[in-house]
Amino acid sequence: MTSYRREFLRFLAASPLAAAAYGQSPTSTNTITSAKDALSVMDFEPVARRVLPPAHWGYMATGVDDDKTLRMNREAFDHYQLRARRLVDVTTADLKTEVFGAQWESPVYISAVGSQKAFHPDGEIATARAAKAKKAMQMLSTVSSVAVEDVGKALGTAPWFQLYMPTTWDDTEKLVKRAEAAGCPVLAWTIDLLAGRNTETATRFTRTDQRDCLSCHATSPTAGANTSSNQRKPMFAGLSGNMNPPGATWSWVERLKKMTKMKLLLKGIDTAEDAKLAREHGADGVIVSNHGGRAAETGRGTIDILPEVVDAVGAQFPVFVDGGFRRGSDVYKALALGARGVGIGRPYIYGLSAFGQEGVEQVLDILRAELSLTMRQMGTPSIGQIGRGAILRNGVRV
Ligand SMILES: Cc1cc2nc3c(=O)[nH]c(=O)nc-3n(C[C@H](O)[C@H](O)[C@H](O)COP(=O)(O)O)c2cc1C
Repeated sequence: MTSYRREFLRFLAASPLAAAAYGQSPTSTNTITSAKDALSVMDFEPVARRVLPPAHWGYMATGVDDDKTLRMNREAFDHYQLRARRLVDVTTADLKTEVFGAQWESPVYISAVGSQKAFHPDGEIATARAAKAKKAMQMLSTVSSVAVEDVGKALGTAPWFQLYMPTTWDDTEKLVKRAEAAGCPVLAWTIDLLAGRNTETATRFTRTDQRDCLSCHATSPTAGANTSSNQRKPMFAGLSGNMNPPGATWSWVERLKKMTKMKLLLKGIDTAEDAKLAREHGADGVIVSNHGGRAAETGRGTIDILPEVVDAVGAQFPVFVDGGFRRGSDVYKALALGARGVGIGRPYIYGLSAFGQEGVEQVLDILRAELSLTMRQMGTPSIGQIGRGAILRNGVRV
């Protein structure tokens, strides 16, 4: 090991900055030994870090370049304060919400995370079983380590399907038709990785990993999207494996929409302008997302983007959001700003890595309990009662 590497590892282990960079709560230093001991979803993070190989941890926890967008997703929640109302009957809270005609138990959903067997041997199946037990919506990644049909069986219903578009329309049609045939009600096309990305910190972690990555998979986890390793993924059976065409433009949304009966969401919308274009070109909704800080660097936190998107498309057009949600109060802020649902990525992967299905279940339970408490404390015990009156941005009404 070079002295630089040793220095870097020592820096990572010791630095409170590093803890903040990867979202680690300063209070979660004592690691838990059972899922039930977790008091916050961040209690799973140090356990995940301990059990995962450095390359897998780095692939999951980090962002791009200097990890500034990653950090901003968390820091932006501090721009918002809540305005509590009193003397409302808050004996119970009702988290139920309706999305595309389906009843959700809670607005929090499981967002797409690829290659989940890199985090636990049961991968997406453990996540699906947890989602089923907790009646949560699961969005499955195109680059999943388990096929959509098998995830549907474990989940008891078809998941939403996240699309990384293949580079040919032929392959796109095959993949979309497969998701449709599996019964997926919603297709979420991720459009924030079409230009590629620079996963520098993840690459540094990979360099510290003593294992031979190529003994388990064809390329390193940070090798990029358009690699032959995709061909081994179950959803790429019979397809070339190349994806994320950089030449895609807005007309592609219409063409994709015509291809399927599934509801079409665009995942990775970061401006009012693009939200309007998404609606004009036939999307059924948008997901405000910066890929968990894993796409472009020095962007805004998604909670800061959400209001302009909601204002641009109006309350009737479904707007979802993900990125940095770790507390029920974070979820509450998004609902107050007009989000229909809130996606989580890393929190459930921490839970999965640490304790498999049970960890994912506990993450969902904790976020629900925290959201329920916040709703009752705020005097808004049902989702429909939560609105802009409940929130301030830097002390000013929004
Ligand atoms: C390890 C990892 C893999 C991911 N894989 C995908 C993916 O395959 N498709 C996708 O659209 N988003 C993917 N995402 C992004 C998530 O869907 C989501 O936008 C993001 O994780 C939310 O931020 P959070 O992790 O701070 O909750 C991934 C995120 C992580 C951390």
